[in-house]
Amino acid sequence: MKIFIDSADIGQIQEAFSWGIVDGITTNPSLIKKAYEKVKASGENISMHDYLCQILETAGDAPVSLEVIGTSEREMTSEGRYLYDTFNKVASNVVVKIPISPSLEANSDHRYDGLKAIRTLSSAGIPINCTLIFTAEQAWAAAKAGAAFVSPFAGRIDDLLRKNMGGAFDKTEYFPAEGLRNSDGAPRIDDNGVHSGVHLVEQCVDIFQTFDFDCEVLAASLRNPRQVRECALVGADVATIPFAVIRDIVDHPKTVEGMNTFCADVVPEYRALFDS
Ligand code: G3P
Repeated sequence: MKIFIDSADIGQIQEAFSWGIVDGITTNPSLIKKAYEKVKASGENISMHDYLCQILETAGDAPVSLEVIGTSEREMTSEGRYLYDTFNKVASNVVVKIPISPSLEANSDHRYDGLKAIRTLSSAGIPINCTLIFTAEQAWAAAKAGAAFVSPFAGRIDDLLRKNMGGAFDKTEYFPAEGLRNSDGAPRIDDNGVHSGVHLVEQCVDIFQTFDFDCEVLAASLRNPRQVRECALVGADVATIPFAVIRDIVDHPKTVEGMNTFCADVVPEYRALFDS
């Protein structure tokens, strides 16, 4: 499974790339807002164009998803072309992110415009990451329209299930991949047959493998390392992970304990090997 960093923060991106495990970057308007406001607050004066170029150059040949903001086929197609024409020449790594449906309300006339924009842009050779996927059938439709990646939002499905259960919850807390179960094993809650975010990812992977779709399942909205592991176990092609979660991947108290023991046990003769 490839690891992408889900961030538009250039400091985080540079740091994560320096660890040698990052294969790509995903951004969205909210991540860009957070990162760019931080840059401006620091007193740095850099245009959005130049800021994005920094991100693309840091990624090198690793793919970088940049999202459109329009809510109609015409806007999304024109913005997708603009993003690709303007930024792909920087490092040849732009993937255009298109929502499965750009509707701001249920049942709007625009709800198929995401599919139409994916079809038009992918036919023009522009790689597409279809975002805001919450069912396997949305993923399936996006793949059929020509998306190169689909992004099921695992964490947000877990949020929805926990919200529907009632009570407060912490978004970063682990939610079981098998979902919440009654004592007889029956599901306690689901969203139209989806028991957890990881289950959604698994359903997308299963369908894509069964029908041999040429489209990668990019697990998104991941909140903790165990969820990342479970996405790998169900065969996700990519996990896009926030900086804090990538950082947490190397942590385990027994690793720290082991290091303390190994360091304490180094005999002088062994240390001397490294002194020369
Ligand atoms: O890649 C999608 C991601 O940025 C959304 O994450 O945590 O806001 O649900 P989150």
